[in-house]
Amino acid sequence: MKNILVTGGLGFIGSHTVVELFNQGYNPIIVDNLSNSTEEVLDRLEQITGVSFLYLKENLANYESIKKIFRDNKIDGIIHFAASKAVGESVEKPLLYYENNLVSLLNLLNLSGEFNVSNFIFSSSCTVYGQPDKLPVDESFPKLPAESPYGNTKQIGEEIIEDYCYSNREFKAISLRYFNPIGAHETALIGELPLGVPNNLVPFITQTAAGIREKLNVFGGDYDTPDGTCIRDFIHVVDLAKAHVAALEYVEEMPENYDVFNVGTGNGYSVLEAIKSFEKVSGINLNYEIVDRRPGDIEKIYADTKKVNGVLGWKAERDLDDMMKSAWKWQKSLQKN
Ligand code: WQD
Repeated sequence: MKNILVTGGLGFIGSHTVVELFNQGYNPIIVDNLSNSTEEVLDRLEQITGVSFLYLKENLANYESIKKIFRDNKIDGIIHFAASKAVGESVEKPLLYYENNLVSLLNLLNLSGEFNVSNFIFSSSCTVYGQPDKLPVDESFPKLPAESPYGNTKQIGEEIIEDYCYSNREFKAISLRYFNPIGAHETALIGELPLGVPNNLVPFITQTAAGIREKLNVFGGDYDTPDGTCIRDFIHVVDLAKAHVAALEYVEEMPENYDVFNVGTGNGYSVLEAIKSFEKVSGINLNYEIVDRRPGDIEKIYADTKKVNGVLGWKAERDLDDMMKSAWKWQKSLQKN
């Protein structure tokens, strides 16, 4: 059984990927410093899979403590999720973001070289494209100057990995550019756990529906889109998790030693369409108001998925209603605990 080091493995996407790795016969080893998650997620993962996973509460910026993991375990691959990811916070605290996100990556790459680990999957983001000048966006599109230090750490991270792959032909890596991950596992045992007031749309929708938030502010109704609100490519977190397993299975055999894939559904939905989908599946009339645009938001983006479909043999299976249904079931489960 292959040991896969999953950094940020108790986080939103990381925890769902641990489940899919297990389902595919891998042995996930979880590293998480709990800066954006709780240890309760580990118990939930055991409830879902029936297995207790090796978990280490470590900060990836601490080279020596991470080195011990590589010394004590044969690592066959790494999926690197651990990073700070709040766009707004990154503008206020850029040095925290550059240190946390990039020092962690450099430590992992150095240790991969020292311990001959060669299969590396990097959590990147469609944010590297900025506002594409045409849609759908494919992997050949240029990376535009990042709108935030968070987005810049993703761009720089991709470049660091590509340069390392060039210098070490034994090392193989894939960057997965996520679009907008939403939803939750069908068991409602794991899902998105935003700490404090949610930045992202869907947790704000579900918390408004649950009465935790008084109303949802829709940021901007005057964009050049059919209904005036922004368009995004929302993807179910379980579909996204499965894409990581597909990438892991491909990376070992791939002809080049670095590649990049968009991971989206290829469908763009507006904020108002997302709200309508939620209202349909929940039966709740959501209290929302269209207000001014949010600085830094791009107008519209959705993925060209030909490459990930054709090369990784992966395709998103869940539609927007499935995503909203699972998000609402997860929110209701949070109210019970
Ligand atoms: C989506 C749309 C908002 C909240 C960011 C990062 C991306 C990834 C996901 C980490 C936008 C609108 C939102 C609200 C709203 N981050 N919105 N009211 O900004 O597309 O992507 O988060 O993995 O890398 O860039 O996601 O959910 O914040 O916003 O109207 O209360 O919903 O304006 O149009 P975004 P989001």
